[in-house]
Amino acid sequence: MNRMLQPGTVQAIRTLFARLDYSALGRIYCHDGGDAFWCAKRGPCQRWGIKLAEVLKGLLPPGGRSLYVGAGVAEIPMLVMETRELRRRVEAYNLRRDEVRVLNQATAESGLRFMARDAGMARGRVDHLWIVSVLNDPERVPHLSALSYGRAVPLTFDPARFSAERWMVRRLVDRCLRTLTRPGLVTTSTEEVMWVAEWCHRRKIPYQVSEREYPAAIVGDPICFMRVGDARP
Ligand SMILES: C[S@@+](CC[C@H](N)C(=O)[O-])C[C@H]1O[C@@H](n2cnc3c(N)ncnc32)[C@H](O)[C@@H]1O
Repeated sequence: MNRMLQPGTVQAIRTLFARLDYSALGRIYCHDGGDAFWCAKRGPCQRWGIKLAEVLKGLLPPGGRSLYVGAGVAEIPMLVMETRELRRRVEAYNLRRDEVRVLNQATAESGLRFMARDAGMARGRVDHLWIVSVLNDPERVPHLSALSYGRAVPLTFDPARFSAERWMVRRLVDRCLRTLTRPGLVTTSTEEVMWVAEWCHRRKIPYQVSEREYPAAIVGDPICFMRVGDARP
C-alpha cells in the first residue's frame, strides 16, 4: 500500500501552516514571547508531522472516527490526512481557548474545526484515540508533570495535589478509552503509555505497543502506537 500522502494533502497541510498566526501562537506557547520558538519548531513540526501522518495512514481504516485530545499545531498533518485521504471524521479538542481561536482562524476554509472543550465529554464511539503529551501537561497537572519529568522538588512537592491530579488523569483516560471500539488504535507518547496500559490491565484487556517510536517536534516525547483489545503484533 502506498502510504505517501497525496500531493494535494501535502499542499493543504503547507497552506494551513502558512496561515497560522505564529506571533499569537508564540504568546500562547511561551510566556516570554515565542518568535524564536516557532522559528525553530515550525519546520520540524510540519515535516515530522507529514511523516507521522504517512505512518498513521497505514494503520487506520477508511471511514472511521478519531478523537483527538489536546490537538494543537502538531496535530494538523494527521487531521488533514485523516479527513482528506481516509474520509474519516475527526473531533479535535483543546482546552486552551486562545490557541483554538488561532487554529480555527487558519483552518476555517478547510472545514477542520478545533473545539475548546474537555475531550472527556466527547460522545459516540471512535476507532482511534490520539492523546499525545496531554496526561503530563504542566498547565493542567503541574505536580504530576514535575514528577513524570523528574523535576519534582522534595521541599515544595505537594503529595495531596499530586494525588488529585492523578485522579483527574485516570478519569480522563477512562472517559476517552470508553469511547474506543475494540480492537482500536491509540496514538500516544512513550511517557503516557503507562496510563493506557494500566486501564487495560485493570480490565484484563490485551494491548500491544509498537516497537517503533517517532519524534515529536513541540513537546519532544517520542510518539508510539498502541493496539487495544488486540494482542497480535
Ligand atoms: C502540552 S500540550 C500538547 C499539545 C500537542 N498535543 C502537542 O503534542 O504539541 C497539552 C494540550 O492538552 C490539552 N488538554 C489537556 N487536558 C485536556 C482535556 N481534558 N481535553 C482537551 N484538551 C486537553 C491542553 O489544553 C493543551 O492544549
